[in-house]
Amino acid sequence: MTPASYVEDPRPDARVLPPRAAARSNAPRLGLNGQWRFDLAETVAEAPAGFAEPGFDDSAWAQLPVPAHWQLHGYGRPAYTNTRYPFPIDPPRVPTENPTGSYRRTVAVPAGWSGSRVVLRFEGVDSCFAVWVNGHEVGTAQGSRLPTEFDVTEVVRPGADNLVAVRVHQWSAGSYLEDQDMWWMSGIFRDVSLLSRPAGGVDDVFVHAGYEDGAGTLRVDVTGDAGARILVPELGVDIAPGEEVRLPAAQPWSAEVPRLYGLHVVTDAERVDLRVGFRTVRISDGLLTVNGNRVLLRGVNRHEFHPDRGRAVTEQDMLDDVLLMKRHNINAVRTSHYPPHPRFLELCDEYGLYVVDECDLETHGFVHVGWRGNPTDDPMWGDAYADRMRRMVERDKNHASVVMWSLGNESWTGRNLERMYRYAHERDPGRPVHYEHCPDGRWSDVYSRMYASQAETDLIGRREEPARGVDPVQDAARRAAPFVLCEYAHAMGNGPGGLTEYQELFETHPRCQGGFVWEWIDHGLRTRDAQGREFFGYGGDFGEELHDGNFVADGLLFPDRTPSPGLHEFAKVIEPVRISGTPDGRLRITNLHEVLDLGHLRFPWTVEEEGVEVEAGELDVPRVAAGHSVELDLPAKAAGDAETWLTVRAVLAADATWAPAGHEIAWGQVRLVERPRIAVAPATGAPALDRIRGVLTGLAGIAVDGPRLDAWRAPTDNDRIPRDSAAEAWRATGLHRLRHRVLDVRDEDGGVVVVRTRTAPAALDAGLLSTMRWTPLTGGGLLLDVSVRPEGEWPGPIPRLGLVWSLPAELDDVTWYGGGPGEAYPDTLRAARVGRFTSSVDGLQTPYVMPQENGRRADVRWAQLTGGGAGLRIEALPVDDGDAETSGLATSGLATFGLATFGLTVRRWTSAALDSAQHPVDLVPGDRVHLTVDLAHRGVGTASCGPDVLPQHELHAAPARIRLAMTPV
Ligand code: GAL
Repeated sequence: MTPASYVEDPRPDARVLPPRAAARSNAPRLGLNGQWRFDLAETVAEAPAGFAEPGFDDSAWAQLPVPAHWQLHGYGRPAYTNTRYPFPIDPPRVPTENPTGSYRRTVAVPAGWSGSRVVLRFEGVDSCFAVWVNGHEVGTAQGSRLPTEFDVTEVVRPGADNLVAVRVHQWSAGSYLEDQDMWWMSGIFRDVSLLSRPAGGVDDVFVHAGYEDGAGTLRVDVTGDAGARILVPELGVDIAPGEEVRLPAAQPWSAEVPRLYGLHVVTDAERVDLRVGFRTVRISDGLLTVNGNRVLLRGVNRHEFHPDRGRAVTEQDMLDDVLLMKRHNINAVRTSHYPPHPRFLELCDEYGLYVVDECDLETHGFVHVGWRGNPTDDPMWGDAYADRMRRMVERDKNHASVVMWSLGNESWTGRNLERMYRYAHERDPGRPVHYEHCPDGRWSDVYSRMYASQAETDLIGRREEPARGVDPVQDAARRAAPFVLCEYAHAMGNGPGGLTEYQELFETHPRCQGGFVWEWIDHGLRTRDAQGREFFGYGGDFGEELHDGNFVADGLLFPDRTPSPGLHEFAKVIEPVRISGTPDGRLRITNLHEVLDLGHLRFPWTVEEEGVEVEAGELDVPRVAAGHSVELDLPAKAAGDAETWLTVRAVLAADATWAPAGHEIAWGQVRLVERPRIAVAPATGAPALDRIRGVLTGLAGIAVDGPRLDAWRAPTDNDRIPRDSAAEAWRATGLHRLRHRVLDVRDEDGGVVVVRTRTAPAALDAGLLSTMRWTPLTGGGLLLDVSVRPEGEWPGPIPRLGLVWSLPAELDDVTWYGGGPGEAYPDTLRAARVGRFTSSVDGLQTPYVMPQENGRRADVRWAQLTGGGAGLRIEALPVDDGDAETSGLATSGLATFGLATFGLTVRRWTSAALDSAQHPVDLVPGDRVHLTVDLAHRGVGTASCGPDVLPQHELHAAPARIRLAMTPV
């Protein structure tokens, strides 16, 4: 054995102590976080010899904080790959170039610790390490996101300064098991502590707290002092280890009502404090239940991430995540793809989130060699697999929030999973086990899939899905199991589209118990370009030779934890209260909670005429029980002539731990008055037109240029990434380089000018014929009546049919009446409510980590752009039904038609600039504002990983028409 042979040895080091529960104890503890002396070598061999000796001179070394990743402190660079190993597949060997960090610090151990055992505990070190205390090697470990304890009693000197030296290797055998889709970053990135373990103390605790037949049940297994007592003062419990009690006074724990009780395990020498929740997780009759109730997982996949700290997250970062989740109606987290910092699970217990606790395992990179040599089925790795599962289960077994164990992610299948599965079941019969990647569903108690389409989810919901695997018994078992989408709705860039259709299936088929959106947060690392401009970097921004670009930025939060439009959409789609109008003019309120009745909510309402509030009140809603609904009379009646909407909101009646009173959890709108016909008064005069190019050049003194017909959008990640992507087809067609040929410019009576243009890409014989009829209006405005008719054979769908104008940059304030406040596309419309909204042009942009189409406002009736003392208003007018030209349009498939609304986009750059930018800092405002009025727009889907735009949200070249009144303001 060479001095560092442990690096390439997958077998766990026998010197590591048996794993045990994370718990708070009154036994003495010293935190070893803080500044450590640090040195980074390029190879294991070049790491400083003798560095673990107390006499070693480290005075020339720099300092590095613990916990941290060294790559985020100027040592080496982060690297991103999704599935590919960034080193040759040669298990268990790793490259000679193996960045190796040497850490040193001293710790003054109190004299009073003599006589007790002393344990050195690491919560997480990436990826492999060896530890010395006072020059004595105490052990080695792998398993980056798992705890490790070493008994250092023999080598520690109480009453003196003690040297702790740690050598950490970036690559190890363990790296083959840690191929998660995230940054490769190394170091001691979680807490380190030194524990005094008193004789007669509590070594381990396993709380079994259930809830059955209206009562709590409790049994606590204790390893350590046999005389321990278990106390739950609030329930008057004082029992011995192993004793079982029934507690009729105990209230159940659930994600909605996370009732916890303080539990203490007390011996003469130690007191361990836990907070426990009474709850029973069971699969019964093919359903996943908590306390007998079917759960609907409104979940997200959470990686630990901070744009400056990477996976070395702080307690505040964890709390921010939990609060943001709760405030967006999320009730479940899958800890993709490793156990989180232990504090995170305490927060989930306390605030109420169901957790699928996933083991630190992924071998996805083997897919690139046909899974040849995959450790999952190689007995050489069996102990490593079992050890990882054991360390997770033992650490996290006392959390009420953990409702399922997950073996890991995307590691194909094999005997080593069986060892993990059996360990979990034998040790903890109280929790089902999850695993997605086994083709026939073995090693999982639920049927788990990722990115199944809505259509397939529907089949699964009906238990009519095609067979999987060859074993009929296994197939039958899987078919009887509850269904969970462990990943769906890939939240990369603009999107995810299609959430509503999934949610409908989850609410229709009991078997479909929801899922976990991929993923919670964009992993963009804050960095700067050569000019010092700050941006969030992704794969390739750190000089990686092999990387997967911005696939690492696919979350519902931007890297700085600002909610993206996708999170607002998700919150609305999964709202636990549904408020809607009924066909007979009443209001229905449906309570989709699991246990809560509606008593904790208030229901304020407003009536708005064209977005201006005219009446408000509060609805009296009975305490409708979970799973039930009520119908009520509308609180207000139609009064005026303007388009009028009633908005009813469900808000928290009192402060909750996770949000203040008044926090909105759901809303619904009912239209009370339809939008009236709008009369326009033609006047004499002539529009200021460029008769050669067929575009308007001015309106009431404002320098206008446009409109030109457009069929392009800066591809979104979902347009761009899949093989045979939509964007590739659009580019091949030439939608990004359309040309315009003015057929004729005709004057008609009353100053009316009709411009006919053919818009088409080079090298294709298909085109779009547009007729733009300009009619002068009184007050200096113009009526623009646009008809578009495709000509020839269009090779495929298009992303948009829009009218593009450029306007002076001074027109910076935008007010609109329509969908808002945030961006919305045809399959991400749910979070947009009808109202009147205002924003600056910059405020309309969504800063996706990779620039792409964004910022569109949907269903806009009118918009006003003002600034610099000028202003322009554009209003869509209902097209007269009797109009002969319109009648053929009913079949055009353009949903916005006839509603007389448009999609609004206003930016300081063109779609072409947006398309070529790599980071938001590349987008430089020019001296014009670019306005696009969409007649129609394609949905966004989730094709970057998952189903593309659903057929009903696809867009094909088809006849379309819109009438716009353009007036100065
Ligand atoms: C899944 C995987 C995730 C992530 C996602 C795409 O296959 O489990 O870790 O890579 O795809 O972003």
